[in-house]
Amino acid sequence: MSFNKKILCIGAGYVGGSSMAIFARKCPEYKITVADINQERIDAWNSDNLPIYEPGLYEIVKEVRGKNLFFTIDIAAGVKESDIIFVCVNTPTKTFGAGAGKAADLQYIEKVARLILKHADSDKIVVEKSTIPVKTAEAISEILHSSGDKKVKFQIVSNPEFLSEGSAINDMENPDRVLIGTEETPEGEKARDEIIAIYSHWVQKDKIITTSVWSSELSKLVANAFLAQRVSSINSISLLCEATGANALEVARAIGKDNRIGAKFLKPSPGFGGSCFKKDILNLVYIAQSYNLNEVADYWESVVLMNEYQKDCFVKRMVRIMFNNITGKRIALFGFAFKSGTGDTRESAAIDIAKKLIEEKADLVITDPKALANAKEDLAEYKGKVSFTADPYQASCGAHAIAIVTGWEEYKNLDYKKIYETMERPAFIFDGCNCLDSGALYDIGFNVVPLGRGELVRW
Ligand SMILES: NC(=O)c1ccc[n+]([C@@H]2O[C@H](COP(=O)([O-])OP(=O)(O)OC[C@H]3O[C@@H](n4cnc5c(N)ncnc54)[C@H](O)[C@@H]3O)[C@@H](O)[C@H]2O)c1
Repeated sequence: MSFNKKILCIGAGYVGGSSMAIFARKCPEYKITVADINQERIDAWNSDNLPIYEPGLYEIVKEVRGKNLFFTIDIAAGVKESDIIFVCVNTPTKTFGAGAGKAADLQYIEKVARLILKHADSDKIVVEKSTIPVKTAEAISEILHSSGDKKVKFQIVSNPEFLSEGSAINDMENPDRVLIGTEETPEGEKARDEIIAIYSHWVQKDKIITTSVWSSELSKLVANAFLAQRVSSINSISLLCEATGANALEVARAIGKDNRIGAKFLKPSPGFGGSCFKKDILNLVYIAQSYNLNEVADYWESVVLMNEYQKDCFVKRMVRIMFNNITGKRIALFGFAFKSGTGDTRESAAIDIAKKLIEEKADLVITDPKALANAKEDLAEYKGKVSFTADPYQASCGAHAIAIVTGWEEYKNLDYKKIYETMERPAFIFDGCNCLDSGALYDIGFNVVPLGRGELVRW
């Protein structure tokens, strides 16, 4: 079959895999190849057991795989045949050297740029989809043009991805906006039109925003910083509510009705997680510091500090309410994914909460419908001090307390009467997601401690 255009995506992770599956479904005349250095990941993408869990993704991959969507480790061949290359590799926080703990580690991006340069023998549009610091395009461009070979031309485009895990398919199919940043040159404009042509298959024109490359790069960091800021803001208020007897859910509802504020992202939680928020804010902090804007840096860093504090307070409240002692007590952590709808546990609040509970010498058992394999890896250093089960009834059997850390839908529909019968007394439920009916649980006999509200206990 001959295709109009050939797209290569380097990086077969959450973003690369999900976004390219949508591209393939929406643009049947484009050949889409997703390449990665990780053979195991590619094998998984080519199997019935995809390497990531995302609702609806498997069905789409099954529909287009082998037709116009292909997964491979042959990056060189992919570079050679493609017209457009999306870069979707990971950009974690640097753990060493200058900027350690804050700056983005760009070694993966740089390796990809050098690989493209090595194998490209025709003009390419190189699209940054990974989240990267402002002005990375400049560095990529310098590497790509470093050979002095004027025959092959590269245009760098910034097209950050705004999908959210757990709703990635819907986010891609119905985006609030698509952001495309290009150089303001005739070549830049031509490249921009090529990317617009892809999205125009299903996205309305007025939702496609075009900017300079730098504005686009910065906008992605800022979007995540603003989202995380809302979580930390409502979480700070949830602590005040717990201390004063106000109800954080009522406060959120009251302020969310103000359309200047809006109702979304105002849910108190044990803390935000996910691979992006923390690293992107720290990256923003690092950029501000490097321009000597220290007050700007401190302002945004406080969003991360508040998040750490929230996790700490969650555990301290558990310990305090359980008579200042959880040593040897079986505690069932319901949920480990950083949010419901995904098996991803990167930076999940559950990791720190679990570690703190283990340090308090609790007998911890973890249950999650999708994230147990990742949870085991995250807590590998605590082997023997924590157990895992997919069955929430088994997890809570003999427990002194349940702590709900991920608001999985299924936790709302469990038989809590049955669970109560198998637990130690007094039986506690710490509802970190406010997903359960506190009154009904109290009537069963539980002591109920919802986040951001006063507790329903019997003393
Ligand atoms: N996960 C999200 O929700 C999300 C949302 C928006 C943006 N982003 C951004 O998108 C980027 C990717 O995130 P992700 O969650 O998909 O990461 P991921 O870790 O799931 O996937 C990255 C993939 O890149 C591969 N890779 C690394 N170096 C490579 C190389 N040299 N050649 C080929 N493959 C290579 C890795 O093997 C891995 O499979 C990050 O910059 C992230 O900040 C993520």
